[in-house]
Amino acid sequence: MKYQAEIQTNSNHYSVNTGLGILNEELCSALNELKADTVFLIVDERVWSLHKERITHSLRQEGIHFSHYLVPVGENSKSAEQWIRCLDFLLSGGIRRNTPVIVIGGGVTGDLGAFAASAVLRGVPLIQVPTTLLAMVDSAIGGKTGINHQTGKNLIGTFYQPYRVISDLGFLETLPDHEWVNGLSEILKYGAIEDAGIFSDSEIFLQGNPGAADRPRLAELIHKCASIKAHIVSSDEHESGRRAYLNYGHTFAHALEKETGYERMSHGEAVYLGMLAAQTLSELVLNSDFQDLTPLAPFRKLYRFRVTENELSSKRLLKYMYSDKKRTSESLRFVLLKEWQHPVISTVKDLNAVEHAWNEIFRHLKMIP
Ligand code: GLY
Repeated sequence: MKYQAEIQTNSNHYSVNTGLGILNEELCSALNELKADTVFLIVDERVWSLHKERITHSLRQEGIHFSHYLVPVGENSKSAEQWIRCLDFLLSGGIRRNTPVIVIGGGVTGDLGAFAASAVLRGVPLIQVPTTLLAMVDSAIGGKTGINHQTGKNLIGTFYQPYRVISDLGFLETLPDHEWVNGLSEILKYGAIEDAGIFSDSEIFLQGNPGAADRPRLAELIHKCASIKAHIVSSDEHESGRRAYLNYGHTFAHALEKETGYERMSHGEAVYLGMLAAQTLSELVLNSDFQDLTPLAPFRKLYRFRVTENELSSKRLLKYMYSDKKRTSESLRFVLLKEWQHPVISTVKDLNAVEHAWNEIFRHLKMIP
């Protein structure tokens, strides 16, 4: 079974294809359309060691020349140094304007490789092959590329839409345990801002280990999320409006990630907590009435936080919120909920309310899962 979501922006029209075992066929079809006889692969080194055969099979079958660059595992690879290395690999390999770059990996490799593809020769065809749940439902879709700077995450980059996104669930067979909750948070985010059905669909992660989720239902859920994102990006490619809703929970999350050195708390863990805080803030600022209930609650048991409240400084967390790149003025801006699935962008001046929202996060960090 293969699912397809379409993205139509001013700069491009492309599809996000999702299914189990679809890589070979999808890659062959994209490379045929592009009339490619040579491709460059930028691949997460762990994914390469586990899936080299899966990746190279179709290229060998079609007689396509390829060379590969391996991206070291971890957030540190979203650096200017790695970006230059990718460019060196592409340029010294003789890349031309019509030579596709295939980027295979999770969010780090995806953002880095796509940024290199967008910059080399002012842009070459890019095929995104996300291999983590998070990349399949979020980061590989919508054309955000980038690297980090010492002053913050994702501060250097471009909007550059791919030629195609191919999400083959076969890659998820080797996904490390912690990566499942990383992706789950972004899935739940679509439940909060857009489609309540996502919460019940996500119950597939609650039946034992999240990695054991039923594959056909998982494929459907990934496609549902990809379709929501496709729809939003199609209407607001450059985040001047509703694309910002995709940052629900992220203002708190980015501060938490920075405070914990991008290591002791994963993006997904931070986003889960950030969404709880954003709900509290919505109650305080917009008088939203959730009756103290959250559909995020059943998933709480899947998160094993390694950080305690005592390790966090409220003062620093607030400072980091003020330095978030999503901020457009001196006030703090949040995605809040008028009610479930009704997000709004809100400028918040009441720092007491923000402090209360942080207390909700601290309360969770005290809880035993
Ligand atoms: N991850 C949020 C966005 O792509 O806009």
